[in-house]
Amino acid sequence: MTTCKKLAESPGLTSIPSLYTYNTNPKDEAISEDPEDPIPVIDLSLLTSGTPHQQSQAIQELGKACKDWGFFLLINHGVPERQMEAVIEGIRGFFDLTEEEKREFEGKNFLDPIRCGTSFNTSLDNVFFWRDVLKILLNPDHEFQFPYKPAGFREVSMDYCKRIREVARELLKAISMSLGLEPCYIEKATNLESGLQLFVANLYPPCPQPELAMGLPPHSDHGLLTLLMENGIGGLQTQHNGNWVNVNAIPNSFLVNIADQLEILSNGKYKSNVHRAVVNSKATRISLGIGNGPSLETMIRPAPELESKEQAAAYIGMKYKDYMELQQSNQLDGKSCLDRVR
Ligand code: SIN
Ligand code: FE2
Repeated sequence: MTTCKKLAESPGLTSIPSLYTYNTNPKDEAISEDPEDPIPVIDLSLLTSGTPHQQSQAIQELGKACKDWGFFLLINHGVPERQMEAVIEGIRGFFDLTEEEKREFEGKNFLDPIRCGTSFNTSLDNVFFWRDVLKILLNPDHEFQFPYKPAGFREVSMDYCKRIREVARELLKAISMSLGLEPCYIEKATNLESGLQLFVANLYPPCPQPELAMGLPPHSDHGLLTLLMENGIGGLQTQHNGNWVNVNAIPNSFLVNIADQLEILSNGKYKSNVHRAVVNSKATRISLGIGNGPSLETMIRPAPELESKEQAAAYIGMKYKDYMELQQSNQLDGKSCLDRVR
């Protein structure tokens, strides 16, 4: 495996190899945010410690964001800025390891605890994506395996994941309430206590022909809720009403998207967000998405409370682990794995 970073650092690189040419005819350009219909912003402090009136208003806004966008920015989440920066620097240090050092973490199977690679799924990709990735499965039922290099990366990242687990739990409580369910409904139905977290660190090196390449193709995430942060360099685009919208994140906010298991559980009331990542020619972009999912053995199906005469269960039930496997084997590009369980 040659990493994209190594390729991008080749002396005198002015064009991309044809294997990386994604847009031969770039036509689905992204648009800027519409001031009349802005990307929703949710304030976590209002959800957790606002007055009862503020709380119920924030829950309503959250429900609307999940329904209309499946995506929102999260502010006042309580995770310290310096911790977020330390994790980003740890990721930078990891990708700065030698190719040989990184090869040690090259996994094969989707359930391997650590996988370091490039593109999206090199065994399926016909076109390579301009991205290197480090994926770590944090399964509370097993001992975590996290790289010991670079120094300090393991500790700061594991602590960060713990905090994200708490933030996700708070959000899922509020999301349950926004659906008219008991606050702990989602937590219980998904065995969140032993839920799988997926740490996905992405590095997008500067690209000499960014309009021809793609960082990550359109996809939705397989878990419940993904919380993403980035190093101040934009690149995420989210799909809304058929358009690609550039996400200009508020500094230190989390970019949150609803993922497939939550769409299934909500019986389609909330939509799993389709998003992609574009690249640029100037700066290295680093992002870290933490996917928060059910426990691997839990069967996820639409909440019976959300079925009605007009809307019978719209998805078949499936174990989260089996769903992950199905998604792995899917030729994704633009198509959702959700279509396979409808
Ligand atoms: C992802 O969807 O997994 C990452 C998107 C990004 O890097 O912004
Ligand atoms: Fe994603």
